[in-house]
Amino acid sequence: MSVTEVRHPLVRHKLGLLRDVETDTEMFRRLVNELTLLLTYEATKDIALEQVEVETPLERTQAERIPGKKVAVCPILRAGMGMLDGVLSLIPVARVGFIGLYRDEETLQPVEYFVKLPADIADRNVLLLDPMLATGNSTAAAVDTVKRAGATQITLIALIAAPEGIANIQEQHPDLNVVVASIDARLNEKGYIVPGLGDAGDRLYGTK
Ligand code: URA
Repeated sequence: MSVTEVRHPLVRHKLGLLRDVETDTEMFRRLVNELTLLLTYEATKDIALEQVEVETPLERTQAERIPGKKVAVCPILRAGMGMLDGVLSLIPVARVGFIGLYRDEETLQPVEYFVKLPADIADRNVLLLDPMLATGNSTAAAVDTVKRAGATQITLIALIAAPEGIANIQEQHPDLNVVVASIDARLNEKGYIVPGLGDAGDRLYGTK
């Protein structure tokens, strides 16, 4: 499994603003969008290109492009939805799948309530979106879901990960790639990442 913590100054700066309890919902959404865009840049760095010919104003030349049938982006509901536009603004041709999971607050285990994936997901690079890789149980369940549908190349884009979640995923899905803005200190007894940013869904949607 590869885990990349993106150390770019823009990412560090925006992450600091995102963590701040004083950051309001509107700004929080905007920062999630911008951070996802920056992480997508890293997450797609090895994507295969095809050669094409284009006519510049001066002459014909070889150029490269991402083939149409390449990417499926799958937010894990609900907080992953806050990251979707960030990916689509860079890869507008991506197909979108949805994986609905909620965390049972007592067992901390994921419960799947909705899945809708592109029919040809097996032919695509899958970008799973979930802002918080906490226990890793939801991520593992989402990876199981896309693997059952035939996906083989899977990358999780997350904003913050806990070391415990990374270890859990490493054990269950050693073939997963993870791109994250920060690996934080630990999980607390309620399954929150510390220092973290609180409940990402609540902060994105203004719920409590
Ligand atoms: N989910 C969140 O939104 N925040 C955490 O810290 C852990 C899981």
